[in-house]
Amino acid sequence: MKNFSFKNPTKLIFGKGSIAQLTKEIPQDKRIMICFGGGSVKNNGVYDQVMNALSGHHIIEFWGIEPNPTYETLIEAVAQARNHSIDFLLAVGGGSVIDGTKFIAAAIPYANDPWEFVLDDSKITKTFPLAAILTLPATGSEMNGGSVISKLATKEKYAFHHPGVFPLFSILDPETCYSLPDYQIAAGIADTFVHILEQYLTTAGQSMVMDRFAEGLLLTLIELAPRLMENHQEYDDMANFMLTATMGLNGFISMGIKQDWATHMIGHEITALTGLTHGYSLAIVLPALMQVMREDKKSKLLQYAERIWNITDTNPETKINTAITKTNNFFRSLGIKTTLSENNIGEDVILEIVHRFQERNTVLGENRNITPDKVLNILNLCK
Ligand code: NZQ
Ligand code: ZN
Repeated sequence: MKNFSFKNPTKLIFGKGSIAQLTKEIPQDKRIMICFGGGSVKNNGVYDQVMNALSGHHIIEFWGIEPNPTYETLIEAVAQARNHSIDFLLAVGGGSVIDGTKFIAAAIPYANDPWEFVLDDSKITKTFPLAAILTLPATGSEMNGGSVISKLATKEKYAFHHPGVFPLFSILDPETCYSLPDYQIAAGIADTFVHILEQYLTTAGQSMVMDRFAEGLLLTLIELAPRLMENHQEYDDMANFMLTATMGLNGFISMGIKQDWATHMIGHEITALTGLTHGYSLAIVLPALMQVMREDKKSKLLQYAERIWNITDTNPETKINTAITKTNNFFRSLGIKTTLSENNIGEDVILEIVHRFQERNTVLGENRNITPDKVLNILNLCK
């Protein structure tokens, strides 16, 4: 196990009816900007719950943070926040609204063009306080210091990280997720599954504790997935899914271990160029990445095959093949099309991604040996 330090400052407020707790979590004298997406919260009662809890507070509303939140929309929010002397930000929605609000929190006090800190987060020196109400289990953004921002003008998508953008608190009421369409539930399951594997699937023998945490979350997700796809209005199932998604990317399963994240980096490029939903991009890339990187990941792929999919085959290569097939089938069981062609994504996108990585001298993966050539191999397998 590697040396590590760990801190997660976000207070998690979880359960039925918990949006009402906003009243006491945000001091009365704060000037709040509430950030929303496209309007789902108006249809599922979340907006009314938030407004009731904050009646008497000074509020302005910012609407229209889109899936894969864009720099172009967010700088408008930054201007409004500055004009109204906002000193507290509240995100209400999915990962995109929370990520967008994190950008706003870092951009308000930033003197230059905030795109600078998306490209180089060491430039962030100050952030404004933010909190979140989550309505979509997937990204873990409600309890981490990461944010992923897109720029429409250049079709780019990058993540930045900073300790100052962890939400002060996040409220998770599973009932707010009952209104999610199947498409988003599937994306959320796939995203969570891949978050766990990006941290787990490197080499065996680094940390027994991290392994068992990750395996517990994966097994939970696999058990819940068919039930959630059948009916996502069952409280305990949704509560378990929500907590799995949060625990999948809040640092608790990555203490002292190597991490991969190549699937995400390739997936972000697919989304930046084509608009494909984040979780769907990952479900395409991951099985191919497992195939291309099978030698590097052999020890962990074998452990994954045994402990997650109960594969007892004595031939290691067959065992790994079966584990990859089962992973792909898991995504397909959610209704996700796991090839590029099924998503109408062609050779031009593959070539552009490889070209971008070549220009940026990008090397990915836990061993920094996923070169642009290997990315090409991976994407060719995704066709
Ligand atoms: O905009 P509204 O109207 O609210 O609708 C949203 C949106 O259209 C809808 N939705 C959310 N909650 C709902 C609901 N519809 C009905 N009922 C509800 N309860 O769902 C749509 C998608 O929302 P979005 O926030 O985009 O989804 P998600 O939470 O999957 O976030 C995706 C973004 O997060 C980034 C992704 O790259 C992508 O930009 N990620 C952020 C990470 C982080 N901060 O740590 C890590 C992840 O790996 C990921 O990269
Ligand atoms: Zn993700």
